[in-house]
Amino acid sequence: MSTFSESCGENLCPEEENTSSANEGRDLTVTIGATVPTGFEPTAAEEVRQKIGADARISKDRGRIYFQIATDKLALVHHLKSVDNLFVIVQEFENYEFKDSKEDVMSDFQQLAPQLPWSDALEVWRMNNSLKKRRGRRRGGNSSKPKPGKGEDAPVPATEEGDAADLIPAEKGQSDAPQAEEGEGDQAGNLEKEAAEDEANKTLKFRVTCNRAGDKHCFTSNDAARDFGGAVQEFFQWKADMTKFDVEVLLNIHYSEVVVGIALTEESLHRRNITHFGPTTLRSTLAYGMLSLCNPQVSDVIIDPMCGTGAIPVEGSIEWQHSFFIAGDNNDMAVSRTVNNVNHIQKRSQDAGSAPLSVDTVQWDLCHLPMRTSSVDIIVTDMPFGKRMGSRKKNWDLYPSCLREMARVCRPGTGKAVLLTQDKKCFSKAISRMGGLWRRVHTVWVNVGGLVAGVYVLKRTGSVYGTTPEDVRPPQEAPNSGKDEQ
Ligand SMILES: C[S@@+](CC[C@H](N)C(=O)[O-])C[C@H]1O[C@@H](n2cnc3c(N)ncnc32)[C@H](O)[C@@H]1O
Repeated sequence: MSTFSESCGENLCPEEENTSSANEGRDLTVTIGATVPTGFEPTAAEEVRQKIGADARISKDRGRIYFQIATDKLALVHHLKSVDNLFVIVQEFENYEFKDSKEDVMSDFQQLAPQLPWSDALEVWRMNNSLKKRRGRRRGGNSSKPKPGKGEDAPVPATEEGDAADLIPAEKGQSDAPQAEEGEGDQAGNLEKEAAEDEANKTLKFRVTCNRAGDKHCFTSNDAARDFGGAVQEFFQWKADMTKFDVEVLLNIHYSEVVVGIALTEESLHRRNITHFGPTTLRSTLAYGMLSLCNPQVSDVIIDPMCGTGAIPVEGSIEWQHSFFIAGDNNDMAVSRTVNNVNHIQKRSQDAGSAPLSVDTVQWDLCHLPMRTSSVDIIVTDMPFGKRMGSRKKNWDLYPSCLREMARVCRPGTGKAVLLTQDKKCFSKAISRMGGLWRRVHTVWVNVGGLVAGVYVLKRTGSVYGTTPEDVRPPQEAPNSGKDEQ
């Protein structure tokens, strides 16, 4: 283990760490890591290019992208729609050489902690905290979002082979300094100063979260988190706290790649726009990815005919404000959840002085849509998988009927559909019989709650509805009629 003075090279000495708030405002260039829904890494990279002007690198560890920013762009990073969690990189090792015995690997990890270049990443972490506090005050109080309910997304400090995008860091406890209300003038300024001083003087609480994937490691993620964490604690003299932590240090190990980072988000950003959750609410980030695949244009009519809680139209109407969205479902509870979610975002946009969002909610049966033929530009929906929602047996009738009705309302030649399902066999069979109406463009494979699902991108053929053999509704098909076909 290096001595205190040895480790102060380009690293941050514990003393410096307490006083470096004086450096705030210094422009740094750092690498940001983001977890994104698996399969949608290219969509996320494109969003980063468009909104931040940075070229993102897609990690070989699926579900992650990395990009460099100057710190004046830090606030923009939090507005990305395709990212679940954000972190700033302390150091990356592309080809880390793990020793053969667990003891040796752990000893290397212990020696690594004091040698890492922590200072820039910690400064970005601090800037990020100030941003969050400012944003919290603008919103009129506490910046923290509602905590996830019991049984949802519990804190997972160490994961093996987990889906990166599904790792949702725990909420922090009461670590944020008290928030001043807007309009309190000097008093607010004093409070801010006091809070900053308190922050600088207090002993930080931290935890290390290790994500590990790879079958050749002789240690577990818990081993790595514990031993690396011990060395971090010794170096910074921080206090370990698994639940009420200020700093979350990330140790991501993917085969021979090791990345050490500091988390910039407390809870996954995928929850940002939904207040009324249902049994199968889609992550906002996945909804954004599906919508991006069809590249919505000004004045496009976009429907989600099986909207559930409305994650897709809610996300779409916020991002593509010049398109028009219709959310529909046949279930009254789903419709009322969507109405509540839409009202919530309408209120938020009204409070921000923005124009109302173009989104309507309807109760309907997708197999008999109350819409004119060829009146819709884009259909984006998340179909019942037949597991938590509906049944596999019912899908054999539902999928062909809904593909036919979607083809009726969708504009021939230009219309598109992006459909998510995990019932791949049933979907493949149904779409193979609709060649005259739909052309399959490509499929993105995604992980939805641990299940591999397909996001099918379809293009409406130029055939006028009513002129192809596929328009005819066949007599009821037997549920197992597709056994011979994948
Ligand atoms: C997988 S869920 C959609 C979840 C949704 N994306 C969300 O974020 O909550 C599928 C939805 O399809 C609806 N559904 C099933 N059959 C339908 C039909 N014939 N017409 C309209 N909606 C239907 C169900 O009520 C359910 O809400």
